[in-house]
Amino acid sequence: MSIAAVILAAGQGTRMKSERPKVLHTVGGKPMVVRAVETAEKIGAQRLVVVVGHGAEAVTEAVRGRAEIVLQAQQLGTGHALLQAADLLRGASDLVVVLYADMPLLRPETLRELIAAQRAEAAGGLAMLTVTLADPRGFGRVVRAADGSVAAIVEETECTPEQRAIRELNAGVYVFDSAWLWQALPRIQPKSKGEYYLTDLIEIAVADGRRVIGVEVSDPEEVIGVNTRVHLAEAEAILRRRINEQHMLNGVTLIDPATTYIEESVQIGADTIIYPNVQLRGETVIGKRCVIESNSLIADSRIGDDCHIKASVIEGATLEDRVEIGPFGHLRQGAYLCEGVHLGNFGEVKNARLGRKTRVGHFSYIGDAEIGEDVNIGAGTITVNYDGVRKHKTIIGDHAFIGCDSLLIAPVVIADHARTAAGAVVTRDVPPHHIAVGVPARMRELKPPEPPEAHEG
Ligand code: UD1
Ligand code: CA
Repeated sequence: MSIAAVILAAGQGTRMKSERPKVLHTVGGKPMVVRAVETAEKIGAQRLVVVVGHGAEAVTEAVRGRAEIVLQAQQLGTGHALLQAADLLRGASDLVVVLYADMPLLRPETLRELIAAQRAEAAGGLAMLTVTLADPRGFGRVVRAADGSVAAIVEETECTPEQRAIRELNAGVYVFDSAWLWQALPRIQPKSKGEYYLTDLIEIAVADGRRVIGVEVSDPEEVIGVNTRVHLAEAEAILRRRINEQHMLNGVTLIDPATTYIEESVQIGADTIIYPNVQLRGETVIGKRCVIESNSLIADSRIGDDCHIKASVIEGATLEDRVEIGPFGHLRQGAYLCEGVHLGNFGEVKNARLGRKTRVGHFSYIGDAEIGEDVNIGAGTITVNYDGVRKHKTIIGDHAFIGCDSLLIAPVVIADHARTAAGAVVTRDVPPHHIAVGVPARMRELKPPEPPEAHEG
C-alpha cells in the first residue's frame, strides 16, 4: 500500500498578525511546516507534497530537499489548495493523507490509526480525525449520521444554531482513497466568497455512497490548530510539557518544569538536576549527575558527567566530565574543556582547548588557543588574537602560570612551567621556566593635595 502525503501550507494566517507566513512560526524551535513534514516522513509516505502560496519562497526554503512543492498562487481555500497537487499525485499512490501545516502537535501514531481505519473500510471510504472540545476554536462541526458515520462538516460561519452547539470538531486530517479523491476534488463548488472548502468532500463522498469514518483523537491536545499567537503559545506549552515529562520519567530532576525549556533533540543523562529557567537547545547532549543552575542557556553542546553549570551561556562547546562553569561564563563555538576544568565568572572561551584541571578563575577572554593541563590563568587575562585582519593562535604549555591581567599578543607560545607576571604584555614566546615581566609601573611623586576652599557659615 503506497501513501502520498499532502501538507497544506499556503494560507496567510491573517490572525497571526505577522509579516511571516503562519506556518514558519516556530513551536519548540522548529517551523510548524517542518513539524508537519517530519510527521509525514514518520508514517513512511513515499511522496510528500507541500502546497505553498503565501510567503512561497520562504516556506519552500524551509522544507527544501524534504518535499515536493506545488504553488497555490491564489489562496482560494483548502479544497483549492489540495487540487494543486492533483497533477503531481494522480495515480501515484493508493492513499492520500492530507494534513494542515498549522497542527504542530499531531503524532505519527495518530495518523497510522487513521490510515488503519480507512483501510478497514471496504469500498474506499474516507477517514477523518475529529476532536471533542468544550471550546470549539472556530473549527468545523462534525455532523454524524444515524449509523455513526460522518454526514457532513459544517464550518462555523455556515452553522445553524443547532450545529453551532456541536462539540465534535474537524481536526483537519484526512485519509482518502486516491482514485476517488482526484476525481471528486474538482466537484467541490465555491462558496459565496469564492472559497473552495476541502470539507465539502465529506458530503460528496456520502453522495457517492462512500462511508466517512470519523476517528476521535484520544488526546485533544494533539490537534490544536494554531490560528493566533495565543494558540501558538498553547502549542509551545504543551510540547514543552511532553518533552519535560519524558525527561523526568527518564530520571532527570526538573525543579520547575514550567520554566524549563528543552528542545526535543536534547539528550540528558539520569540524575542530572535542572534548575528553573534553563534553556537547552539543538543538538545538545548532557551527561549524568550534572547540575544546571538557573539562567543557563546551552545550545548544540556536549556536556560530560558530573558537570556543574551556573547561569552561563554555552554554544557549540564540548565539556568533558567534572567541568565547572560560571556564574556568567560564556563558551562559544569550538570551546573544548577537558576534565576538571574550572571557568569562573565572566570567562569567555572561543575555539580553544583547555587541558585537564586548568583554571580560569575570573574575567578572561580565551580565543583561538591551546592550553595545557593544570594551567592557572589569572584574573583579567586576554588572548589578543585579532590584529584587525587575521586571527592568531596562543599556545600555553602544561603547568604554566599566567599572572593577572596578562595580555598575550598572539601568535605566541608560553612554554610548560613558564610564567607571566601580573600586567605583562607578552609579545614574544616565553621559554620553559622563564617569567615574562612587562610594562612595569613607574613611580612619580604625588603632589600635595590643594587645600579645600573655605566655606562661609
Ligand atoms: C480548517 C477546516 C476546519 C477545521 C480546521 C482545523 C476547512 C474549510 N476548514 O479551518 O473544518 O476544523 O481547519 O484546524 O478546511 N490553506 C491553504 N490554502 C488556502 C487556505 C488554507 O494552503 O487557500 C492551508 C493553511 O495554510 C493551513 C490549512 O490550510 O495550514 C488550514 O487553513 P485555515 O485557514 O487555518 O483553516 P481553518 O479556518 O482553521
Ligand atoms: Ca486553522
